[in-house]
Amino acid sequence: MNSPLIDPFQRAINYLRVSVTDRCDFRCVYCMSENMTFLPKKELLTLEELDRLCSTFVRLGVKKLRITGGEPLVRRDIMKFFRSMGRHLDTGALKELTVTTNGSQLERFATDLYAAGVRRINVSLDTLDEQKFADITRWGRLPQVLRGVDAALAAGLKVKINAVALKGFNEDELPTITKWCAERSMDLTWIEVMPMGDLGNEDRLGQYWSLKDVQARYSEQFTVTELAERTGGPARYVRLEETGQKIGFITPLSHNFCESCNRVRVTCTGEIYMCLGQEDMADLRAPLRASESDAPLEDAIRAAIALKPKGHDFDYSRQRLDGQMPRHMSHTGG
Ligand code: GTP
Ligand code: 5AD
Ligand code: SF4
Repeated sequence: MNSPLIDPFQRAINYLRVSVTDRCDFRCVYCMSENMTFLPKKELLTLEELDRLCSTFVRLGVKKLRITGGEPLVRRDIMKFFRSMGRHLDTGALKELTVTTNGSQLERFATDLYAAGVRRINVSLDTLDEQKFADITRWGRLPQVLRGVDAALAAGLKVKINAVALKGFNEDELPTITKWCAERSMDLTWIEVMPMGDLGNEDRLGQYWSLKDVQARYSEQFTVTELAERTGGPARYVRLEETGQKIGFITPLSHNFCESCNRVRVTCTGEIYMCLGQEDMADLRAPLRASESDAPLEDAIRAAIALKPKGHDFDYSRQRLDGQMPRHMSHTGG
C-alpha cells in the first residue's frame, strides 16, 4: 500500500487541481492581460500523459480531482480525458471528478460531463449585466454562459457559481446574483480578489471588497446560519434561511485558510505548484517522460510535497499589495 501524501505541516494532500490548458476564450481583467502569449502546443502534456499523471496522484491518495485551465473545456478532445478519469470514480479510488469553467462551452459538453461521472461543477460568473460581463471578461458574451448554465442544470449537474467580489463592480448586484442563484437551486461562492498576474493599470487595492463586508450585507437582509460543512475546498459556508441556499466565502485576504490546505496544482506542462501564492514548483514532466514506470514520477511528487510552503503571503492590510504574485491565475487554474 502506498503511504499517503503528507506535507511538512502534517497536512494530508488529497485534492489535485489540474490545469489542462493555459488558453481561454475570455480575457478576464483580473486573470489575464489582453495580449497573452500562450504556450506552444508541443510544450503541453498529451492527454495520455495527463491521464498517467492524474492516475498516479489517485494512487497516492488524491480523492478529489478538479480540472481547470485557462478554460479547460476549450482543450481539444477533453471529453476523452474526462471519460477516462471516470474509471477512478467507478473503482471508488476517486471520490469526486469536477471542473471549474467559465461556462462558455457547457451547452456543448454538459451532458458528456455528466456521463463521465461529473456531478458538480463550478462556473465563474461575476455579473449578470451583459455590458459589465463584456467589460470584465473582455471577450466573453453573457447569453452564451447563461445558456451553458441552463444546459448544465438540465443535464443534472449541480452548479456552484463563483463570483470574484469587486468593489464598485458587482457590489450592487449582490441581491440580484443571490436571487438568480436561489431560483436555480445553485450555491454561490464569493472570492476575494488576489494580487496575481501582470497588474498593469489594474487597481487591485481599489477593487478589493472584503468578504467580511459581504457577509455583513447578507446578515442585514437574511437570517444567516454558519455551517460547519466543507467541500474539501477553501470556502466557509453559511445558509440563508429564507432561500435555503448556501453562500460560500473564499477569503485569502481577510481570513487565511492555509492551515487546512489539502491541495496542490499541476499545470498543463506538468509543473507542480505547491501553493497558489508562492513560487515553489517542481517539474513532473521530465520524470513522467523518463521512464515507462511510474516510480520516478512518484518520487518526484513526494519530493515536491515535502517542499510545500506553509501558506501564501497575500496581504493588503498595509494598503500595499504585499505577497503579490506575477504569475497569471490562468497558469495554475486558480
Ligand atoms: P469546491 O469543491 O466547490 O469547494 O471548489 P474549490 O473552491 O476548491 O474550487 P474552485 O475552483 O471553485 O476555487 C475557487 C477559487 O478559490 C480558486 O479559483 C482560487 O481563486 C481560490 N482558491 C482555491 N484554492 C485556493 C488556495 O489554496 N489558496 C488561495 N489563495 N486561493 C484558493
Ligand atoms: N483573484 C481571485 N480570483 C480569481 N480568479 C481568477 N483570477 C483571480 C484573482 N486575481 C478566479 C476566477 C475563477 C477561478 C478559476 O479563479 O474567477 O472563479
Ligand atoms: Fe479565462 Fe477563467 Fe481567466 Fe477568465 S478567470 S480569463 S474565464 S481562465
